[in-house]
Amino acid sequence: MGATIIVDAFWGDAGKGKFCAFLSKELNASLSVRAGTGTNAGHSVYVNDTFVKTRTLPLGWLNPTTNALISSGVAVNPDIFLEEVIKYGVSHRVFVDRNCPIIESKHIAIEQADQTMCNIDSTKSGSGSARADYIMRRGKRAQDISSLKEYIVDGITLINTEATLRSVVIEGSQATFLSLYASDRYPYVTSDNCTTNAFLDDTSLSWNLLERVVLLIKCLPTCVGNGFLPYEMSEEEIRSRGLIEYGVNTGRFKRRSKKIDWERLAFSVMINGPTEIALTFCDQYDQKISSARKKHEVTSSLRSLIDEVEERTNVTVKYLSTGKDLHDIIVLH
Ligand code: IMP
Ligand code: MG
Repeated sequence: MGATIIVDAFWGDAGKGKFCAFLSKELNASLSVRAGTGTNAGHSVYVNDTFVKTRTLPLGWLNPTTNALISSGVAVNPDIFLEEVIKYGVSHRVFVDRNCPIIESKHIAIEQADQTMCNIDSTKSGSGSARADYIMRRGKRAQDISSLKEYIVDGITLINTEATLRSVVIEGSQATFLSLYASDRYPYVTSDNCTTNAFLDDTSLSWNLLERVVLLIKCLPTCVGNGFLPYEMSEEEIRSRGLIEYGVNTGRFKRRSKKIDWERLAFSVMINGPTEIALTFCDQYDQKISSARKKHEVTSSLRSLIDEVEERTNVTVKYLSTGKDLHDIIVLH
């Protein structure tokens, strides 16, 4: 019973979708819920050899008994939503909150033509512009769109009811340091906060139904787009060490830190209140752990990192993600 929130400690792309799918199965969740700003995020995972990627649906639907909800704080692009629903054949178990802001083609066009959005290297998904119209009380809501009719629900009552009776997993999007108000890198941020509190707000889940907060820490953090990144690795080093990654959604080359910034991690822990930590992309930190699934396979270098993270945060590292497959996870406790 109760809800689990998945939140990224740094700049994104740490594997929130994978953990939403994993925890939905592990907890036998009745509902997985997408929180966050809109379609700017791309969440993906490999299931055996199949690549699964969504921009709107939380990946909890990969568990056949878990339904999916887009919560009210998330901007919805109806075309993208319907495409994903059809592609993955899940129309009988996905829902859209009636109040979600709607992204129209004009919102994408506005962002594409906007100099500031170009300067900050926005994904130009229209999410920010749609949210701005909504705030000005002239935006469309999901309930106004006829093609979404069969999916529309009162998601706020749904999530609060489900979390009272069963397990719910909330897949946040973006990341703590992409937060609009909470980050230190404005204007190189997204169009809302992306923290535990923000995801509670997106879903209107009552705080006392929140059971767990899983903070994802990418061992060698990455970021796409402009803005300050501490301990930045040179592109040459990224390439020579085989640490190249491209954005799932936009195909952009990912910048990378040489190490975890402990000061920013402390800030992230302070505001997100994690009950546990997942260290992700561990195989990039130590290739010897690639695709390991058993506790005894933890290498000494990773053990040292786990110890340091626990010592500095006072939070238990419960999970290690060791590869691209959904099942490449070590449960430590
Ligand atoms: P926007 O929210 O699309 O306007 O993008 C603003 C900034 O946040 C840009 O630097 C994007 O690269 C970054 N950003 C937005 N969504 C994500 C995400 O899901 N992962 C990583 N970076 C993101
Ligand atoms: Mg919000």
